[in-house]
Amino acid sequence: MYICNCNGIREREVRAAIDAGATRPAEVFRACGSQAQCARCVCEMRQMISEQGEALRYAAE
Ligand code: FES
Repeated sequence: MYICNCNGIREREVRAAIDAGATRPAEVFRACGSQAQCARCVCEMRQMISEQGEALRYAAE
């Protein structure tokens, strides 16, 4: 599934970027070698960053 249609960034690429330490959409774009264009995907990226962070915090407890 594509998260960012402008850059063709898939969900798994976003997750990989977050796993590698991206904490903001700009860092996800950078990790994918692209940059924001229409920015419609930014909300979804933020949500994924937040969910993945919560999962990690939960796992660490
Ligand atoms: S959908 Fe990601 S920049 Fe447009």
